[in-house]
Amino acid sequence: MKLAIVGTGYVGLVSGACFAEFGYETVCVDKDIRRIESLKSGKCPFYEPGMDNLLFKHLRNTKLLSFSNSLSESMIDADIIFITVGTPSKRLDDDADLTHVWSAANEIGKNINKYCLVVTKSTVPVGTSKEIKNVIAKIAPKDKFDVVSNPEFLREGSAIDDFMRPDRVVVGTENSKSEKIMRDLYRPLFLRETPMVSTSIETAEIIKYASNSFLATKIGFINEVADLCEAVGANVQDVSKAMGIDQRIGSKFLNPGPGYGGSCFPKDVKAFSLTAKKFNVDLSIVDAVHLSNQNRIKKIANKIIKNTSKNSVLSFLGLSFKPNTDDIRESTSIKLASILLKKDIRLIVSIQLLLIALKNFLLNLNISILLSNLVRMPMQSLLGQNGMNSELLIFLRLVK
Ligand SMILES: NC(=O)c1ccc[n+]([C@@H]2O[C@H](COP(=O)([O-])OP(=O)(O)OC[C@H]3O[C@@H](n4cnc5c(N)ncnc54)[C@H](O)[C@@H]3O)[C@@H](O)[C@H]2O)c1
Repeated sequence: MKLAIVGTGYVGLVSGACFAEFGYETVCVDKDIRRIESLKSGKCPFYEPGMDNLLFKHLRNTKLLSFSNSLSESMIDADIIFITVGTPSKRLDDDADLTHVWSAANEIGKNINKYCLVVTKSTVPVGTSKEIKNVIAKIAPKDKFDVVSNPEFLREGSAIDDFMRPDRVVVGTENSKSEKIMRDLYRPLFLRETPMVSTSIETAEIIKYASNSFLATKIGFINEVADLCEAVGANVQDVSKAMGIDQRIGSKFLNPGPGYGGSCFPKDVKAFSLTAKKFNVDLSIVDAVHLSNQNRIKKIANKIIKNTSKNSVLSFLGLSFKPNTDDIRESTSIKLASILLKKDIRLIVSIQLLLIALKNFLLNLNISILLSNLVRMPMQSLLGQNGMNSELLIFLRLVK
Protein backbone atom coordinates (compact mmCIF):
# COMPACT_ATOMS: atom_id res chain seq x y z
CA MET A 1 0.00 0.00 0.00
CA LYS A 2 1.37 3.44 -0.95
CA LEU A 3 0.44 6.57 0.95
CA ALA A 4 0.56 10.31 0.30
CA ILE A 5 0.11 12.79 3.13
CA VAL A 6 -0.84 16.40 2.46
CA GLY A 7 0.61 18.69 5.15
CA THR A 8 3.72 18.08 7.23
CA GLY A 9 2.69 19.65 10.54
CA TYR A 10 2.56 17.74 13.81
CA VAL A 11 -0.16 15.40 12.55
CA GLY A 12 1.03 14.93 8.95
CA LEU A 13 4.68 14.37 9.74
CA VAL A 14 4.12 12.11 12.72
CA SER A 15 1.52 10.09 10.80
CA GLY A 16 3.85 9.84 7.79
CA ALA A 17 6.82 8.65 9.84
CA CYS A 18 4.67 6.19 11.80
CA PHE A 19 3.06 4.78 8.66
CA ALA A 20 6.60 4.24 7.34
CA GLU A 21 7.31 2.45 10.62
CA PHE A 22 4.31 0.20 9.83
CA GLY A 23 6.14 -0.60 6.57
CA TYR A 24 4.28 1.56 4.03
CA GLU A 25 5.97 3.63 1.35
CA THR A 26 4.89 7.13 2.32
CA VAL A 27 5.43 10.50 0.72
CA CYS A 28 4.72 13.62 2.77
CA VAL A 29 3.79 16.71 0.80
CA ASP A 30 3.81 20.34 1.86
CA LYS A 31 3.43 23.58 -0.06
CA ASP A 32 6.07 25.14 2.21
CA ILE A 33 9.26 24.82 0.16
CA ARG A 34 11.67 25.53 3.02
CA ARG A 35 9.96 23.01 5.25
CA ILE A 36 10.32 20.28 2.62
CA GLU A 37 13.99 21.18 2.00
CA SER A 38 14.65 20.91 5.71
CA LEU A 39 12.80 17.59 5.95
CA LYS A 40 14.69 16.19 2.97
CA SER A 41 17.89 16.84 4.89
CA GLY A 42 16.47 14.98 7.89
CA LYS A 43 15.63 18.02 10.03
CA CYS A 44 12.29 18.03 11.82
CA PRO A 45 10.80 21.54 11.69
CA PHE A 46 9.45 21.27 15.25
CA TYR A 47 10.39 19.60 18.49
CA GLU A 48 8.70 16.25 19.05
CA PRO A 49 10.44 13.56 21.11
CA GLY A 50 11.65 10.66 18.94
CA MET A 51 10.93 12.35 15.60
CA ASP A 52 14.58 12.87 14.61
CA ASN A 53 15.36 9.17 15.02
CA LEU A 54 12.25 8.05 13.17
CA LEU A 55 12.94 10.48 10.33
CA PHE A 56 16.53 9.30 10.04
CA LYS A 57 15.49 5.65 10.06
CA HIS A 58 12.92 5.90 7.28
CA LEU A 59 14.50 8.66 5.21
CA ARG A 60 18.03 7.25 5.16
CA ASN A 61 17.83 3.55 6.09
CA THR A 62 14.55 2.00 4.93
CA LYS A 63 13.90 4.83 2.41
CA LEU A 64 10.18 4.26 2.96
CA LEU A 65 9.68 7.95 3.72
CA SER A 66 10.13 10.78 1.24
CA PHE A 67 9.17 14.44 0.98
CA SER A 68 7.90 16.55 -1.85
CA ASN A 69 6.36 19.89 -2.76
CA SER A 70 4.47 18.30 -5.62
CA LEU A 71 1.15 16.68 -4.76
CA SER A 72 0.52 15.69 -8.38
CA GLU A 73 3.76 13.68 -8.51
CA SER A 74 3.25 12.23 -5.04
CA MET A 75 -0.26 11.06 -5.86
CA ILE A 76 0.66 9.04 -8.96
CA ASP A 77 0.87 5.66 -7.19
CA ALA A 78 -0.90 6.50 -3.94
CA ASP A 79 -3.65 4.19 -2.71
CA ILE A 80 -4.56 6.49 0.16
CA ILE A 81 -4.20 10.28 0.34
CA PHE A 82 -4.46 11.85 3.78
CA ILE A 83 -5.45 15.47 4.30
CA THR A 84 -3.59 16.71 7.40
CA VAL A 85 -3.53 20.46 6.78
CA GLY A 86 -4.24 23.01 9.50
CA THR A 87 -7.82 24.04 10.38
CA PRO A 88 -7.33 27.09 12.62
CA SER A 89 -10.10 29.40 13.82
CA LYS A 90 -11.20 32.04 11.35
CA ARG A 91 -10.04 35.53 12.23
CA LEU A 92 -13.46 37.05 12.53
CA ASP A 93 -15.57 34.30 14.03
CA ASP A 94 -15.33 30.98 15.87
CA ASP A 95 -15.70 28.82 12.77
CA ALA A 96 -12.93 26.52 11.53
CA ASP A 97 -11.05 28.05 8.61
CA LEU A 98 -11.14 25.35 5.95
CA THR A 99 -9.22 27.25 3.27
CA HIS A 100 -6.33 24.75 3.32
CA VAL A 101 -8.72 21.79 3.24
CA TRP A 102 -10.53 23.06 0.13
CA SER A 103 -7.27 23.86 -1.59
CA ALA A 104 -5.94 20.35 -0.85
CA ALA A 105 -9.23 18.75 -2.01
CA ASN A 106 -9.13 20.71 -5.27
CA GLU A 107 -5.58 19.70 -6.00
CA ILE A 108 -6.30 16.07 -5.17
CA GLY A 109 -9.34 16.16 -7.48
CA LYS A 110 -7.31 17.54 -10.36
CA ASN A 111 -4.72 14.78 -10.06
CA ILE A 112 -6.74 11.63 -9.43
CA ASN A 113 -5.77 9.09 -12.09
CA LYS A 114 -6.60 5.77 -10.41
CA TYR A 115 -8.84 4.60 -7.59
CA CYS A 116 -7.78 5.96 -4.18
CA LEU A 117 -9.13 6.82 -0.77
CA VAL A 118 -9.14 10.47 0.29
CA VAL A 119 -8.93 10.45 4.07
CA THR A 120 -9.56 13.50 6.26
CA LYS A 121 -7.26 13.41 9.28
CA SER A 122 -7.49 17.14 9.92
CA THR A 123 -10.08 18.07 12.54
CA VAL A 124 -13.04 19.32 10.50
CA PRO A 125 -16.65 20.25 11.32
CA VAL A 126 -19.30 17.66 10.61
CA GLY A 127 -20.23 17.63 6.93
CA THR A 128 -16.78 18.67 5.70
CA SER A 129 -15.66 15.26 4.41
CA LYS A 130 -18.88 14.93 2.38
CA GLU A 131 -18.22 18.44 1.03
CA ILE A 132 -14.69 17.32 0.12
CA LYS A 133 -16.32 14.52 -1.83
CA ASN A 134 -18.48 17.07 -3.71
CA VAL A 135 -15.46 19.26 -4.47
CA ILE A 136 -13.48 16.32 -5.87
CA ALA A 137 -16.47 14.86 -7.73
CA LYS A 138 -16.76 18.10 -9.72
CA ILE A 139 -13.30 17.46 -11.16
CA ALA A 140 -12.66 13.70 -10.99
CA PRO A 141 -14.76 10.62 -11.95
CA LYS A 142 -16.89 9.49 -8.97
CA ASP A 143 -15.83 5.84 -9.27
CA LYS A 144 -12.14 6.76 -8.91
CA PHE A 145 -12.27 7.67 -5.21
CA ASP A 146 -14.02 7.34 -1.86
CA VAL A 147 -13.80 9.70 1.10
CA VAL A 148 -13.14 8.64 4.67
CA SER A 149 -12.95 10.45 7.99
CA ASN A 150 -10.14 9.24 10.24
CA PRO A 151 -9.69 11.87 12.98
CA GLU A 152 -6.38 11.97 14.80
CA PHE A 153 -6.08 11.93 18.59
CA LEU A 154 -2.29 12.17 19.07
CA ARG A 155 -0.93 14.65 21.63
CA GLU A 156 2.10 16.81 20.98
CA GLY A 157 4.95 15.74 23.26
CA SER A 158 3.98 12.05 23.07
CA ALA A 159 2.77 12.01 19.47
CA ILE A 160 4.71 8.98 18.24
CA ASP A 161 3.64 6.80 21.12
CA ASP A 162 0.06 8.00 20.80
CA PHE A 163 0.07 7.13 17.10
CA MET A 164 1.69 3.74 17.58
CA ARG A 165 -0.39 2.83 20.65
CA PRO A 166 -3.69 4.71 20.39
CA ASP A 167 -6.63 4.03 22.72
CA ARG A 168 -8.73 3.58 19.59
CA VAL A 169 -8.78 4.23 15.86
CA VAL A 170 -11.90 5.97 14.59
CA VAL A 171 -12.81 5.39 10.96
CA GLY A 172 -15.87 6.91 9.31
CA THR A 173 -16.74 5.46 5.92
CA GLU A 174 -19.69 5.25 3.56
CA ASN A 175 -19.08 1.80 2.12
CA SER A 176 -17.52 -1.54 3.03
CA LYS A 177 -14.78 -1.21 0.40
CA SER A 178 -13.28 1.86 2.11
CA GLU A 179 -13.71 0.31 5.53
CA LYS A 180 -11.77 -2.76 4.44
CA ILE A 181 -8.90 -0.67 3.04
CA MET A 182 -8.71 1.28 6.32
CA ARG A 183 -8.76 -1.97 8.30
CA ASP A 184 -5.84 -3.26 6.19
CA LEU A 185 -3.97 0.02 6.72
CA TYR A 186 -4.22 -0.17 10.50
CA ARG A 187 -3.65 -3.95 10.67
CA PRO A 188 -0.35 -3.52 12.59
CA LEU A 189 -2.36 -1.85 15.38
CA PHE A 190 -5.03 -4.51 15.48
CA LEU A 191 -2.35 -7.10 16.13
CA ARG A 192 -1.98 -5.16 19.40
CA GLU A 193 -5.74 -5.38 19.88
CA THR A 194 -6.34 -1.66 19.37
CA PRO A 195 -10.11 -1.14 19.04
CA MET A 196 -11.29 0.27 15.71
CA VAL A 197 -14.53 2.22 15.98
CA SER A 198 -16.21 1.97 12.60
CA THR A 199 -18.84 4.62 12.01
CA SER A 200 -20.47 6.85 9.45
CA ILE A 201 -18.40 9.81 8.24
CA GLU A 202 -20.51 12.33 10.18
CA THR A 203 -20.20 10.34 13.41
CA ALA A 204 -16.41 10.15 13.10
CA GLU A 205 -16.22 13.92 12.59
CA ILE A 206 -18.34 14.55 15.69
CA ILE A 207 -16.36 12.05 17.82
CA LYS A 208 -13.23 14.20 17.46
CA TYR A 209 -14.90 17.48 18.50
CA ALA A 210 -16.92 15.83 21.27
CA SER A 211 -13.75 14.24 22.69
CA ASN A 212 -11.74 17.47 22.71
CA SER A 213 -14.64 19.48 24.09
CA PHE A 214 -15.17 16.94 26.87
CA LEU A 215 -11.50 17.07 27.89
CA ALA A 216 -11.64 20.87 27.86
CA THR A 217 -14.76 20.65 30.05
CA LYS A 218 -12.86 18.60 32.64
CA ILE A 219 -10.14 21.26 32.74
CA GLY A 220 -12.66 24.12 33.04
CA PHE A 221 -14.59 22.25 35.72
CA ILE A 222 -11.62 21.58 38.00
CA ASN A 223 -10.42 25.17 37.59
CA GLU A 224 -13.74 26.50 38.86
CA VAL A 225 -13.72 23.95 41.70
CA ALA A 226 -10.21 25.24 42.53
CA ASP A 227 -11.64 28.75 42.93
CA LEU A 228 -14.25 27.45 45.35
CA CYS A 229 -11.64 25.46 47.28
CA GLU A 230 -9.55 28.60 47.63
CA ALA A 231 -12.55 30.58 48.87
CA VAL A 232 -13.45 28.04 51.56
CA GLY A 233 -9.98 26.81 52.53
CA ALA A 234 -10.27 23.36 50.94
CA ASN A 235 -7.45 21.62 49.06
CA VAL A 236 -8.21 21.20 45.35
CA GLN A 237 -5.36 18.71 44.84
CA ASP A 238 -7.04 16.36 47.32
CA VAL A 239 -10.43 16.97 45.75
CA SER A 240 -9.03 16.21 42.30
CA LYS A 241 -7.21 13.08 43.50
CA ALA A 242 -10.27 11.69 45.25
CA MET A 243 -12.49 12.46 42.26
CA GLY A 244 -10.03 10.87 39.85
CA ILE A 245 -9.89 7.59 41.77
CA ASP A 246 -13.52 7.10 40.82
CA GLN A 247 -13.20 5.17 37.57
CA ARG A 248 -16.35 6.77 36.20
CA ILE A 249 -14.53 10.13 36.37
CA GLY A 250 -10.84 9.26 35.77
CA SER A 251 -7.84 11.25 36.97
CA LYS A 252 -6.68 12.75 33.65
CA PHE A 253 -7.35 16.43 32.85
CA LEU A 254 -8.30 17.19 36.44
CA ASN A 255 -5.28 19.34 37.29
CA PRO A 256 -6.13 22.95 38.08
CA GLY A 257 -4.04 25.53 36.26
CA PRO A 258 -4.15 28.61 34.05
CA GLY A 259 -6.66 27.10 31.60
CA TYR A 260 -6.24 25.13 28.40
CA GLY A 261 -4.32 26.40 25.38
CA GLY A 262 -2.59 24.86 22.39
CA SER A 263 -3.44 24.42 18.76
CA CYS A 264 -6.50 22.21 19.31
CA PHE A 265 -8.75 22.73 22.34
CA PRO A 266 -9.38 26.48 21.99
CA LYS A 267 -10.29 26.33 18.30
CA ASP A 268 -12.14 23.00 18.50
CA VAL A 269 -14.34 24.04 21.42
CA LYS A 270 -15.35 27.19 19.55
CA ALA A 271 -15.92 25.42 16.23
CA PHE A 272 -17.97 22.64 17.86
CA SER A 273 -20.32 25.15 19.42
CA LEU A 274 -20.64 27.13 16.21
CA THR A 275 -21.38 24.00 14.18
CA ALA A 276 -24.16 23.11 16.61
CA LYS A 277 -25.64 26.61 16.29
CA LYS A 278 -25.78 26.18 12.51
CA PHE A 279 -28.07 23.18 13.16
CA ASN A 280 -30.09 25.13 15.77
CA VAL A 281 -28.64 23.07 18.60
CA ASP A 282 -27.45 24.77 21.75
CA LEU A 283 -24.23 23.31 23.21
CA SER A 284 -24.52 25.56 26.27
CA ILE A 285 -22.04 23.49 28.31
CA VAL A 286 -19.40 23.89 25.61
CA ASP A 287 -20.08 27.65 25.45
CA ALA A 288 -19.69 27.90 29.21
CA VAL A 289 -16.37 26.04 29.05
CA HIS A 290 -15.04 28.49 26.46
CA LEU A 291 -16.12 31.50 28.52
CA SER A 292 -14.74 30.02 31.73
CA ASN A 293 -11.39 29.39 30.03
CA GLN A 294 -11.20 32.96 28.71
CA ASN A 295 -11.87 34.31 32.20
CA ARG A 296 -9.37 31.95 33.79
CA ILE A 297 -6.30 33.69 32.39
CA LYS A 298 -7.62 37.12 33.43
CA LYS A 299 -8.26 35.84 36.97
CA ILE A 300 -4.76 34.40 37.23
CA ALA A 301 -3.21 37.61 35.86
CA ASN A 302 -5.18 39.77 38.31
CA LYS A 303 -4.13 37.58 41.20
CA ILE A 304 -0.46 37.89 40.18
CA ILE A 305 -0.72 41.66 39.67
CA LYS A 306 -2.40 42.08 43.08
CA ASN A 307 0.35 40.11 44.80
CA THR A 308 3.33 41.58 42.96
CA SER A 309 5.20 44.48 44.48
CA LYS A 310 6.82 47.20 42.36
CA ASN A 311 10.18 46.22 40.84
CA SER A 312 9.47 42.51 41.21
CA VAL A 313 10.84 40.28 38.49
CA LEU A 314 8.71 37.24 37.70
CA SER A 315 10.08 34.04 36.24
CA PHE A 316 8.26 32.05 33.56
CA LEU A 317 9.30 28.42 33.32
CA GLY A 318 8.50 27.77 29.68
CA LEU A 319 6.38 29.39 27.00
CA SER A 320 4.90 26.47 25.13
CA PHE A 321 1.31 25.50 25.82
CA LYS A 322 2.45 22.38 27.68
CA PRO A 323 5.69 20.51 28.45
CA ASN A 324 7.68 18.57 25.86
CA THR A 325 6.67 20.63 22.85
CA ASP A 326 7.81 23.87 21.24
CA ASP A 327 4.28 24.66 20.04
CA ILE A 328 3.31 28.07 21.38
CA ARG A 329 -0.03 28.39 19.57
CA GLU A 330 -2.64 29.75 22.02
CA SER A 331 -0.16 29.28 24.86
CA THR A 332 -1.52 30.48 28.20
CA SER A 333 2.02 31.45 29.27
CA ILE A 334 2.22 33.91 26.40
CA LYS A 335 -1.23 35.34 27.11
CA LEU A 336 -0.24 35.79 30.75
CA ALA A 337 3.14 37.30 29.82
CA SER A 338 1.44 39.78 27.48
CA ILE A 339 -0.90 40.99 30.25
CA LEU A 340 1.90 41.28 32.81
CA LEU A 341 4.25 43.12 30.45
CA LYS A 342 1.53 45.67 29.79
CA LYS A 343 1.43 46.28 33.54
CA ASP A 344 5.16 47.04 33.50
CA ILE A 345 6.04 43.84 35.32
CA ARG A 346 9.46 42.52 34.38
CA LEU A 347 9.73 38.90 33.41
CA ILE A 348 12.44 36.32 33.15
CA VAL A 349 11.49 33.64 30.73
CA SER A 350 13.13 30.26 30.77
CA ILE A 351 12.76 28.41 27.51
CA GLN A 352 13.89 24.89 26.84
CA LEU A 353 13.25 24.71 23.18
CA LEU A 354 14.14 25.99 19.77
CA LEU A 355 15.13 29.56 19.11
CA ILE A 356 12.37 29.72 16.55
CA ALA A 357 9.90 29.64 19.41
CA LEU A 358 11.60 32.68 20.88
CA LYS A 359 11.17 34.55 17.62
CA ASN A 360 7.52 33.52 17.47
CA PHE A 361 7.05 34.57 21.06
CA LEU A 362 8.36 38.06 20.40
CA LEU A 363 6.19 38.40 17.29
CA ASN A 364 3.21 37.09 19.24
CA LEU A 365 3.45 39.71 21.95
CA ASN A 366 2.69 42.29 19.31
CA ILE A 367 4.44 44.97 21.34
CA SER A 368 7.93 46.29 21.02
CA ILE A 369 10.33 44.50 23.28
CA LEU A 370 13.94 45.17 24.05
CA LEU A 371 16.04 42.16 24.72
CA SER A 372 17.86 44.26 27.25
CA ASN A 373 20.06 41.73 28.85
CA LEU A 374 20.95 38.18 28.08
CA VAL A 375 21.82 36.60 31.36
CA ARG A 376 23.45 33.28 32.04
CA MET A 377 23.02 32.16 28.46
CA PRO A 378 25.11 29.07 27.75
CA MET A 379 25.97 30.07 24.18
CA GLN A 380 27.63 26.79 23.21
CA SER A 381 24.76 24.62 24.30
CA LEU A 382 22.42 27.07 22.65
CA LEU A 383 24.14 26.75 19.32
CA GLY A 384 24.87 23.05 19.71
CA GLN A 385 22.00 20.60 19.11
CA ASN A 386 20.26 23.27 17.01
CA GLY A 387 19.51 25.20 20.15
CA MET A 388 17.36 22.40 21.45
CA ASN A 389 17.26 21.52 25.13
CA SER A 390 19.32 24.53 26.00
CA GLU A 391 18.31 26.74 28.85
CA LEU A 392 17.93 30.32 27.77
CA LEU A 393 17.15 32.96 30.30
CA ILE A 394 16.05 36.22 28.78
CA PHE A 395 15.31 39.44 30.44
CA LEU A 396 12.45 41.30 28.83
CA ARG A 397 11.66 44.95 29.28
CA LEU A 398 8.75 46.75 27.73
CA VAL A 399 9.70 49.65 25.53
CA LYS A 400 7.04 52.34 25.50
N1 LIG B 1 -1.31 19.35 16.53
C1 LIG B 1 -1.95 18.40 17.17
O1 LIG B 1 -1.57 17.98 18.26
C2 LIG B 1 -3.19 17.77 16.56
C3 LIG B 1 -3.72 16.61 17.11
C4 LIG B 1 -4.85 16.05 16.53
C5 LIG B 1 -5.45 16.65 15.42
N2 LIG B 1 -4.92 17.80 14.94
C6 LIG B 1 -5.55 18.41 13.76
O2 LIG B 1 -4.76 18.05 12.62
C7 LIG B 1 -4.73 19.13 11.67
C8 LIG B 1 -3.30 19.55 11.41
O3 LIG B 1 -2.76 20.06 12.60
P1 LIG B 1 -1.19 20.39 12.73
O4 LIG B 1 -0.99 20.92 14.11
O5 LIG B 1 -0.43 19.21 12.26
O6 LIG B 1 -1.09 21.56 11.64
P2 LIG B 1 0.16 22.49 11.28
O7 LIG B 1 -0.40 23.84 11.15
O8 LIG B 1 1.27 22.23 12.23
O9 LIG B 1 0.64 21.97 9.85
C9 LIG B 1 -0.14 22.04 8.70
C10 LIG B 1 0.78 21.92 7.49
O10 LIG B 1 -0.03 21.82 6.31
C11 LIG B 1 0.61 22.55 5.26
N3 LIG B 1 -0.37 22.85 4.22
C12 LIG B 1 -1.43 23.68 4.28
N4 LIG B 1 -2.11 23.67 3.11
C13 LIG B 1 -1.47 22.80 2.29
C14 LIG B 1 -1.71 22.35 0.98
N5 LIG B 1 -2.75 22.76 0.25
N6 LIG B 1 -0.84 21.45 0.44
C15 LIG B 1 0.23 21.02 1.15
N7 LIG B 1 0.49 21.41 2.43
C16 LIG B 1 -0.36 22.28 2.99
C17 LIG B 1 1.20 23.76 5.95
O11 LIG B 1 2.24 24.34 5.19
C18 LIG B 1 1.69 23.14 7.28
O12 LIG B 1 3.03 22.72 7.18
C19 LIG B 1 -5.60 20.23 12.28
O13 LIG B 1 -6.92 20.09 11.79
C20 LIG B 1 -5.58 19.93 13.76
O14 LIG B 1 -6.73 20.40 14.43
C21 LIG B 1 -3.79 18.37 15.46
